[in-house]
Amino acid sequence: MLDFNRLRLYRRARISAWLPAAALLQLFVFCSTMHGQTDCLSCHGDSSMQDAAGHSIAVDGKVFSASIHGSLKCNDCHSDIREYPHPEKIAAVKCEKCHADAQSELAGSVHASASEHPCTSCHGNAHAIVAKTNPRSTVYPLNIPRTCGACHGNDRIAKDHHLSNVYPSYVDSIHGAALSTEGLLVAANCQSCHGSHHILSHKDPESPTSRAHIPSTCGTCHAKIADEFASGAHGRALAKGNAKAPVCTDCHTAHAIQQPAQEAFRAHTAPLCGSCHADKASTYRDTFHSQLSLLGGYVDTARCWDCHGSHEVLPASDSRSPIAPANLVHTCGQCHANANARFVKYQPHANAHDWRSNMPLYFVRLFMNVLLVSVLTFFLIHTLLWIVRARLEQVKSRAGNGGRNA
Ligand code: HEC
Ligand code: HEC
Ligand code: HEC
Ligand code: HEC
Ligand code: HEC
Ligand code: HEC
Ligand code: HEC
Ligand code: HEC
Ligand code: HEC
Ligand code: HEC
Ligand code: HEC
Repeated sequence: MLDFNRLRLYRRARISAWLPAAALLQLFVFCSTMHGQTDCLSCHGDSSMQDAAGHSIAVDGKVFSASIHGSLKCNDCHSDIREYPHPEKIAAVKCEKCHADAQSELAGSVHASASEHPCTSCHGNAHAIVAKTNPRSTVYPLNIPRTCGACHGNDRIAKDHHLSNVYPSYVDSIHGAALSTEGLLVAANCQSCHGSHHILSHKDPESPTSRAHIPSTCGTCHAKIADEFASGAHGRALAKGNAKAPVCTDCHTAHAIQQPAQEAFRAHTAPLCGSCHADKASTYRDTFHSQLSLLGGYVDTARCWDCHGSHEVLPASDSRSPIAPANLVHTCGQCHANANARFVKYQPHANAHDWRSNMPLYFVRLFMNVLLVSVLTFFLIHTLLWIVRARLEQVKSRAGNGGRNA
């Protein structure tokens, strides 16, 4: 009745000290029907238990009972264990037996092919899984970034799979800080933007992080801003399929989002708008507002969006636009208390190179350039002639002295 090959196994498993007890137990459990956790825990409950390779195969019964699966029998999951002694190699647990949805969602995702990924890579120790609403769960909102960050904060994994290492930037972002320092459960964690089981690459058009879907993904929380964006020139261009139209992450990034009121953001965004509106950025750079910030130090001068708005950006021809002629006194008046119709004649994008956009400025520039070139040319010729004349006089005076120097 006793399988002595099995007993050798137990000796290898370093429990040879209680070999007789194990043998008796084998006999006992073999004769009884096998279910219950106690049967298994009578061996695996020993916290020092290791398999032949020296890996711990101990299971903490208390932790297991407190887990969401605490009422299951061990072999509800380890279902290939039908009798003792149980096989040396036990098949991997198939969670899909009870969680078919999670499994099928995972199957079509980026994580399906990655060898790193059984369910436990996100849910942690299979014997300690608790409800996702429990603060100890690895998928409780405050813990999700750390769970995903175990891989997405790892340089080697990032390199092997040609991904950016996003976790460090996320942690310092407004969302990451709100989550970790304020415990703000409604701040965006990885799952809010990517989903949990059916995670797709942003290159997949179906993904919530694909360009076309980003405004609505951010808009699940920033609803008013997403509406404003949609009704502005940028949102409309995006809806028409204009691949050059900006989305939220072009201006804010996806993982390193900062507070827009902060200096770092304000100082950066003028070049950012300029990455697409190069002509307007160069004319802005020539004006007083931009020159102010180039003087050194940080000056809170007018940035692109102080005049244009940030989300409902509209062309001057739209009467709702802050740069529509009728609204300029109000727009400039935010900072220039005594702005009036004459003051707003000032052109924030004065282009001295284009006579159509500003004729007086164009001719003033032309005149100044002609003046500069003529003055320089005159003095250059003057100086050359002066040198020639000085040389001639020197030669003449040497000749007068009979070839000796004076
Ligand atoms: C009589 C003691 C004993 C009992 C009872 C017992 N096991 Fe084991 N179990 C072992 C030993 C010894 C090993 C180590 C085998 C090895 O060397 O890899 C092991 C290994 C395992 C492994 C790991 C296998 C692997 O591939 O690494 C699992 C899973 C397991 N047992 C589950 C159970 C479950 C579930 C029960 C109850 C239904 C149970 N065991 C009952 C002694 C026992
Ligand atoms: C919810 C399903 C589930 C239940 C219930 C469960 N296990 Fe496991 N167990 C797993 C998973 C998953 C693994 C990881 C190995 C794998 O992928 O199969 C595992 C691994 C093990 C191992 C191998 C060592 C280790 O920790 O990796 C042992 C031993 C084990 N389980 C014993 C038990 C015992 C004893 C019970 C009952 C008290 C039990 N299991 C109940 C899912 C379960
Ligand atoms: C990439 C990480 C990841 C992997 C892999 C993963 N999960 Fe999840 N799982 C999550 C996150 C995150 C949540 C929390 C979802 C939420 O809060 O809405 C979750 C929630 C769950 C839930 C709770 C119900 C629900 O859908 O909200 C179950 C059940 C679950 N997972 C089972 C599984 C199973 C089974 C597998 C393996 C087939 C698996 N998970 C693989 C991340 C993962
Ligand atoms: C024998 C069926 C069974 C198996 C196999 C099983 N589970 Fe479960 N699981 C359950 C039940 C029942 C619940 C409790 C559902 C509830 O309370 O809503 C649960 C709950 C969960 C939850 C928490 C859901 C929540 O609402 O937060 C997660 C996560 C989970 N299981 C993951 C797993 C993983 C991972 C595996 C494989 C290692 C697995 N389960 C295997 C039956 C099973
Ligand atoms: C506010 C929404 C948001 C949050 C929160 C977020 N992501 Fe992303 N993630 C995106 C978007 C959008 C992209 C698409 C690429 C881009 O715009 O940079 C992306 C891209 C990625 C990529 C692919 C990067 C690459 O180089 O291909 C990974 C991996 C990733 N995210 C993981 C995470 C992880 C892990 C977390 C949590 C620590 C997280 N994301 C949090 C929105 C988010
Ligand atoms: C066990 C390691 C691991 C964990 C944990 C993990 N991932 Fe991944 N993830 C990967 C690997 C590896 C890839 C690359 C898969 C591939 O290219 O085949 C990947 C790919 C991705 C991508 C696609 C990147 C792209 O655009 O190509 C996103 C998004 C992502 N993971 C988000 C998450 C989120 C969110 C979580 C947490 C809920 C998470 N991951 C947890 C290892 C992990
Ligand atoms: C799950 C909800 C959620 C999602 C999705 C989300 N956010 Fe947020 N976001 C928040 C919360 C909550 C705050 C406030 C944090 C604080 O004040 O500490 C915030 C703050 C911000 C801020 C700073 C606001 C300020 O007043 O300084 C910006 C910018 C921002 N999010 C942009 C984005 C972008 C871009 C996306 C999409 C890529 C996005 N958010 C997706 C919840 C979300
Ligand atoms: C063209 C660039 C651009 C795009 C696209 C953009 N934003 Fe902004 N966003 C800004 C600027 C600039 C500010 C700063 C506004 C200020 O300080 O007055 C800002 C401010 C914010 C704030 C802080 C609160 C506020 O209203 O000042 C949040 C939150 C935000 N944006 C979210 C989003 C979301 C969500 C999207 C996509 C639907 C988005 N942004 C698209 C440039 C942009
Ligand atoms: C990723 C490229 C991109 C970025 C970044 C960007 N824009 Fe635009 N912008 C566009 C496109 C495309 C249009 C639509 C042009 C059209 O409809 O023909 C547009 C339209 C506009 C318009 C309306 C004028 C018109 O010709 O319709 C204004 C004003 C404007 N943007 C200002 C800004 C400001 C201010 C910022 C920075 C806060 C900014 N843009 C950032 C690409 C961009
Ligand atoms: C001091 C306010 C102010 C600032 C700062 C400013 N603009 Fe303008 N912008 C205007 C006004 C007023 C107009 C309409 C008259 C004109 O074209 O000169 C305009 C016109 C534009 C237009 C064309 C709109 C149309 O209807 O054709 C674009 C695009 C634009 N600006 C982008 C930018 C960008 C990008 C920046 C930052 C690099 C910027 N602006 C900074 C006030 C401003
Ligand atoms: C966000 C604030 C802000 C906005 C909006 C703004 N400016 Fe300015 N502007 C400044 C600051 C700061 C200075 C430098 C200090 C000063 O002279 O008042 C300045 C200087 C100027 C100057 C040169 C000095 C002067 O006061 O004569 C002119 C001209 C000017 N702005 C015109 C405009 C016009 C026209 C608009 C609207 C299209 C506008 N500004 C919108 C902040 C702003």
